[in-house]
Amino acid sequence: MTAENMQSNESNESLDASKYSYDIVPYPSHPFRQTHPERLHAISRMFGMSPAEITQCRVLEIGCAGGGNIIPMAETLPESQFVGIDLSQRQIESALSSVEKLGLTNIELKHLDVMDVDQSLGKFDYIICHGVFSWVPPDAQDKILAVCRDHLNPQGVALVSYNTLPGWRLRGAIRDMMSYHVRNLSDPTKKIQQARALLEFLASSVSAETGAYGKMIHSELNLLKNQTDNYLYHDHLEMNNYQFYFHQFIEQANKHNLQYLAESHIATMWTGNFAKDVAQTLERVAPDIIQREQYADFVRNRMFRQTILCAKGTKLDRALNENTLNGSWINSPMRMIEKDPAKNFPENTVSFRNLQTNQGLNTSDPLMITAIEYLGDQFPLAVSFDDLLARVQTKAEELGNVEMSQLRRAMANNMIHLAVGGVVELSYTPNRFTREISVKPKTSGVARLQAASVDRLTNARHEIIKLDDLTRHIVTMIDGEKTHHEIRNGLKDMLHNGKLTMRKDGEPMPAPNGEMLEKIATEAVAKAMQRLSKAAMLIS
Ligand SMILES: C[S@@+](CC[C@H](N)C(=O)[O-])C[C@H]1O[C@@H](n2cnc3c(N)ncnc32)[C@H](O)[C@@H]1O
Repeated sequence: MTAENMQSNESNESLDASKYSYDIVPYPSHPFRQTHPERLHAISRMFGMSPAEITQCRVLEIGCAGGGNIIPMAETLPESQFVGIDLSQRQIESALSSVEKLGLTNIELKHLDVMDVDQSLGKFDYIICHGVFSWVPPDAQDKILAVCRDHLNPQGVALVSYNTLPGWRLRGAIRDMMSYHVRNLSDPTKKIQQARALLEFLASSVSAETGAYGKMIHSELNLLKNQTDNYLYHDHLEMNNYQFYFHQFIEQANKHNLQYLAESHIATMWTGNFAKDVAQTLERVAPDIIQREQYADFVRNRMFRQTILCAKGTKLDRALNENTLNGSWINSPMRMIEKDPAKNFPENTVSFRNLQTNQGLNTSDPLMITAIEYLGDQFPLAVSFDDLLARVQTKAEELGNVEMSQLRRAMANNMIHLAVGGVVELSYTPNRFTREISVKPKTSGVARLQAASVDRLTNARHEIIKLDDLTRHIVTMIDGEKTHHEIRNGLKDMLHNGKLTMRKDGEPMPAPNGEMLEKIATEAVAKAMQRLSKAAMLIS
């Protein structure tokens, strides 16, 4: 699209204010790992609470849209109870249809305005309200916090995400301009098209080199270019769009008898992730956690938070120590990388990088090298701390220095350091998937349902995994009932009868047959199994 697409906003369309925007344009509904009860449980336990076990808990999601977040949770935690509410009837209907196809009985989805929530909804251990708070009017924001207060069990926690200042100040200016340009349009397609056209016009009129303003326009354009139309429509063009300084949000939460527990990405809370002098100044000028978080937002120009709240007065203990690791599981996609020659590390230093968070680690401690290599090899599986310790102990015995309690303390401290630094992730729940490729492998019902129509599937770590076309079609058959041979035959049928067409450079290829068909199916199934095993897509 170019700036030529920009048109006058004069329009003779009549605005139909009675239609609810999410019923006209549904929101893409995805899983968010950072909202999963496993994460909320882990952080609240790390910080001194006694949260409900996630295998036996009650979860409420406010603004659950099409169920992309809550439905996979319900499938993987069958003994827990899930309730999702949303104001959009169309989205709830779509979510209910998925629930019916999956045959889930532990989830209730209601077409309900949060304003109408009353006691009958019951109490919950975990409340999730992601991507809603900033896009509803102030009375609904108040009600969301009231629901969190009134419907949480005593050791329950609520995750509420919202847009933050100062980061959204700049983004808000772009939103203002887009909103102005589309103010007389009602057709969502035209609105989206014209919003994009305005951005193109600005980008072509303002040079990226003309200082801060040019840089801002170009960086926003690059960001929005890759977002879906539905995202642009709701996240940027919705009538309600509120942003908060962190301290304002916390003051509002306090009024509702809720207190700050943590961020769902705990690494953002650790001042050690800033340069040393920045960290020292933050600690000096901001003695309490709320102030420290606020100043950290100023430094980072933060745009978004996913804050975990609990009832005011709940006893917390944020001092992490050796006991934090009791019963814990650790996961990290660590890979060894070439060490930076400019850094002058000692010769025996090994450098690692977390492939998801991009956080790095350089160490010359042979026990840490053993631990990190083991975590990387096992990923996506989490490793229990006791198992990790046993590996490290074997290495320590080789080196002839084992004092078990000292070893445990040192490893615990190292892992805490790495967890708050975003290098590893801690939880207290065992893996709910396997890397083993069994005789009759199985993927989740959610993944099979998604694979029938889209290429982005939800894995057992509650993440989005993008698959190629062949693998996606193979997933539809991995139901724990079929052998590899039967799956291969199923794929051959799909390829042969034209249900699935292979493509080269985007162009359709003729349907294979004979030996070629056999070869393609055999290789594709073997490759798919490896890919699914590494992507936490296989369950036992
Ligand atoms: C931006 S979408 C976010 C959906 C999902 N939670 C996510 O993060 O992707 C906001 C959702 O909140 C819902 N919503 C807005 N106001 C609501 C209200 N008063 N009561 C219940 N749901 C509401 C919308 O219908 C929509 O599905």
